[in-house]
Amino acid sequence: MAPIYPGNYNSKILVEMWSDFIDWGKRRKGENGFLIRQLKRFNCKRVFDACLGDGADSLYLIKEGLEVTSNDIDKLFIEKAKSHAKDAGVNLNITEFDWLELDKHLEKESFDAVLCLGNSLTYLFERKEQLKALKNFYHILRKGGILIIDERNYQQLLDKRKEILEEGKFSYSRKYVYCGDKVHGEPVEISDDKVKMQYTDERTGKKGYLILYPFKKNELLQLIKESGFKKVEKFSDYKTADPLADFHQYVCVK
Ligand SMILES: C[S@@+](CC[C@H](N)C(=O)[O-])C[C@H]1O[C@@H](n2cnc3c(N)ncnc32)[C@H](O)[C@@H]1O
Repeated sequence: MAPIYPGNYNSKILVEMWSDFIDWGKRRKGENGFLIRQLKRFNCKRVFDACLGDGADSLYLIKEGLEVTSNDIDKLFIEKAKSHAKDAGVNLNITEFDWLELDKHLEKESFDAVLCLGNSLTYLFERKEQLKALKNFYHILRKGGILIIDERNYQQLLDKRKEILEEGKFSYSRKYVYCGDKVHGEPVEISDDKVKMQYTDERTGKKGYLILYPFKKNELLQLIKESGFKKVEKFSDYKTADPLADFHQYVCVK
């Protein structure tokens, strides 16, 4: 059985609200073709979606003609993605591997691209584990293949923690990555080593939670370089790097 990570307590409630939290259509509008552009740029066909979630990105890329392997360790999320795939008449090719064990299960250099999207690496708290996961992504990529990984701009949360927690001053554009207007996420605890996010369905008042590791400024970038990637391009909200953006994206070439 896969180990349970501190951030990995996806209650049924959280999985149920995830698609409304993302808003699939608005996520696509926000990234405005970024994923496909990067995949084409590096001639990628075989894609490993390391964290399937509810299927938002995998289903989109399959429909765009890519060969996608969709991975997750959370059974509830996998069931949710399967049900979305069924509704869309699309077949998912699913694996259920822990990122930390990918090298035991997958061939070296067997993918053209690895995706780790939706602020997912932040489920891991230990530096050693974060690095191992990144090294495993590197391991399964062919030479010249790419890892596309994103992170929430946690540095902003850390810098503004007093205003956010004491004055309720947290807002995000809802244009990128997490775009839904029926479910919103906000940090309810912020410390240097963990952030507790609360997700609220504004229609029902139901709440889900995740505890995540807040990467500091340039911390993820440094880990990516340490894991072996030589060329890394940084984007913010899919455009030029910006310290005030909601999210950062990295395109990392092996
Ligand atoms: C924040 S969700 C993002 C899901 C999706 N990529 C998205 O953009 O909406 C993070 C996902 O990563 C998965 N995950 C977390 N740790 C994992 C691990 N060690 N191995 C595989 N999947 C993991 C979780 O189960 C969850 O589905």
